[in-house]
Amino acid sequence: MTFLHRRTRQTKSSGDCFEEYTACFRGRKSERSMTKQMMIGVALGNGYGAQNSAWRMPWVDPANYTSFDSQVRYAQAAERGKFQFLFLPDYPALKGDVAMEAPWVSLEPMLTLAAIARETNRIGLVATGSTTFNEPYNLARQFKTLDIMSHGRVGWNAVPSWDPAVAANFGRQLPPREEKYQRLHEVVQLVQALWGSWERDAWVLDTASGQFADPAKIKPINLSGRHVGARGPLPLPPSEQGQPVIFQAGGGGNGLEVAGRYATGVMGAPQTMEDARHQRSELRAAAQRAGRDPDEIKYFAGIMTTVASDRRAGLDRRILLTEHTFADRVVYLGQMLGLRLESASLDAPLSPEQLAAARPSPADPRSVYALQVAREGWNLRDVLAHGVIEFHPAIAGPSIEIADFMQAWFEADAADGFWVVPDVFEDGIDAFVDGVVPILQERGLFHRDYEGHTLRHHLGAPAQYGTDTRVLG
Ligand SMILES: Cc1cc2nc3c(=O)[nH]c(=O)nc-3n(C[C@H](O)[C@H](O)[C@H](O)COP(=O)(O)O)c2cc1C
Repeated sequence: MTFLHRRTRQTKSSGDCFEEYTACFRGRKSERSMTKQMMIGVALGNGYGAQNSAWRMPWVDPANYTSFDSQVRYAQAAERGKFQFLFLPDYPALKGDVAMEAPWVSLEPMLTLAAIARETNRIGLVATGSTTFNEPYNLARQFKTLDIMSHGRVGWNAVPSWDPAVAANFGRQLPPREEKYQRLHEVVQLVQALWGSWERDAWVLDTASGQFADPAKIKPINLSGRHVGARGPLPLPPSEQGQPVIFQAGGGGNGLEVAGRYATGVMGAPQTMEDARHQRSELRAAAQRAGRDPDEIKYFAGIMTTVASDRRAGLDRRILLTEHTFADRVVYLGQMLGLRLESASLDAPLSPEQLAAARPSPADPRSVYALQVAREGWNLRDVLAHGVIEFHPAIAGPSIEIADFMQAWFEADAADGFWVVPDVFEDGIDAFVDGVVPILQERGLFHRDYEGHTLRHHLGAPAQYGTDTRVLG
């Protein structure tokens, strides 16, 4: 597939190393493979947490929705835990039941990351930037500026928009999927070309001779495709990691091809270990098809965490947070198990007859786990409190159970790491950092400190500057 038509020589891709590297990727890779360790990211959002009712918890300031201070506090907590990155999703629209629920994205992510960048030193900063409704020049400029501001810690989650409500905010309609992904390929290639539009040593800064920069090493990119174009160059030299790394999330077969070509980090939403293993191996194969080393792509599985002193305390906390959903969810639980269930059933476990009749629905991969929990004899309120109907696998209980879960998936090659979605940010990140992280470190599964300063280094990603000529097709 060809997306961009060159008018002049394109900025070259470089295999050289930036920042504090003394060894290039190959050297680091062999060091890493001796002690394979997982990586961890945390997803932030509206200032409250994964659960809709987090804003109402007595220990949460309900004004956090617009608080940069709270976002900074969460980032610092994750950095204390040596997380490789934090992730800010984006959804430029207002939707949902604002009468009772806080929207899941509030403050604009790039400005939020700018505030966080100034108050943290090591943690990677990843944000979504839509490839559907942004011009590549703006994306290139903003992400590169943030990358320079943070000394090389930025990642761009390059995804297309999917919601007509977002399209309406740009006075547009959602393009057909094929067009959306064509535009995505053009945007990513163009952004990377703009990032590489200054050769690494173009910024001379020789005060004695008076030479500021070498114009021979700063070139327009002159790229135009079917959907976007830009002349360039950007007025920006390389950052300490050269340029931001690319992340990708979701998007089925199209997303797989995007990730295979460009992504260093992929945030997946698998429901089961088998699903995660499958997704990870598909991604690795896609990277190989694109001419890359499969180890260049890191797959992160999403998990929802409720850290508590024991299982009972974890379930009680999740009941406090999610009970308002149970009347609807118990009916859906019935559909997952092929049973008729309603609110009145919540206080009792499934009867022996119901258990004998229950069949996990093949339409929902969460059904097998739901039945497994029900067989343990919990009442249905507790079955739901286990998080059997959640966007990601949910673990509610003592730190050791969360660590065991992560270890099992990691050692089964189901993930290179995890993006953690705490139930309530205010105390959930600290609880994970103080409880789960030391166990993983003790087991040799997670690093005790940052080994480098840039996100590229944290992720073990090869140096890249400009477009990756291996994947242009
Ligand atoms: C982990 C994860 C994070 C995502 N983050 C965002 C986001 O921040 N903003 C957004 O608009 N879409 C986000 N998405 C949606 C996907 O990127 C993608 O656009 C969606 O799956 C629709 O793709 P499709 O149009 O090919 O079906 C996310 C998906 C996943 C799995």
